[in-house]
Amino acid sequence: MIKIAPSILASDFSRLGEEIADIVNCGADYIHVDVMDGCFVPNITIGPPVIRAIRGCCDKIFDVHLMIEAPDKYLEDFANAGADIINVHYETCRHLNRTIVRIKELGKKAGVTINPATPVCVIEPILEYVDLVLVMSVNPGFGGQEFIPGSIEKIKRLVTIRKEKGYDFEIEIDGGVDESNAHIVIEAGVDVIVAGTAIFRSNDRKKTIDRLKGKCEER
Ligand code: DX5
Ligand code: ZN
Repeated sequence: MIKIAPSILASDFSRLGEEIADIVNCGADYIHVDVMDGCFVPNITIGPPVIRAIRGCCDKIFDVHLMIEAPDKYLEDFANAGADIINVHYETCRHLNRTIVRIKELGKKAGVTINPATPVCVIEPILEYVDLVLVMSVNPGFGGQEFIPGSIEKIKRLVTIRKEKGYDFEIEIDGGVDESNAHIVIEAGVDVIVAGTAIFRSNDRKKTIDRLKGKCEER
C-alpha cells in the first residue's frame, strides 16, 4: 500500500493545526515537514518550535525534511521537537555515515535525500544503514514546481539495489507529484509519495489522496 505524506508547506499556515487535522482525516499517512534555511535552499520556512507546537495535533509519523546546511548541529533539536523520521540531504553532509548513526542514536528513523542532479551511486555505501531514501523530483526550495522525470530511473535503481542486497529502506519521492503522474512513480516502485500543492489546493482532499494512492474510483 502506497503511503501519502502531505507537505504542510502548501497549507494555510495561519490555521496549521486545523490543516493537519483535516489531512489526517482525509487519509494522510505521514506529515511531511519542509525545513528550509535560506542557505542550502533559497527559501526559509519553519524550525523546531513550530514542529513542537504542531506535534500534539495528531499521532501520525512526522517526516521531517531538513533542507539546511550543517544539519548535525540541529539533529537533537528536531528529535526533541517530535520528528519521527529525520531526512538529511546527501549534499549537506560531509560525514554522512556519522550523521545517520547520530539520528539513530537519538531514537529516530534516518533518511537520506538526493537532489535531482545527484546520482544514486553516491549513496550506495549508506543504503544498508538508512530507513528511508527520499528522491527529489524538483530542486528543493519551493512547492508547486514541475516534476523532473529523471527521478523515475532513480526509484527503479533503488528498488533493484534493495532487492539484490536485502535492504529494507522505504523509497519516497518529493516534488511535483499530482494525480496525473502518481501512477508512474507507483509503477517505478515508490513506497511514499510527498505531495503539497496537489493535496492542499484540492477541493476534495480525500479524493485526491485516494487517487494519489492509486485507488480507483467506483465505476
Ligand atoms: C520542496 C519540498 C517539497 C514540496 C512539495 O523543496 O521539499 O516537499 O513542498 O510540494 P509540491 O507537491 O507542491 O511540489
Ligand atoms: Zn520535502
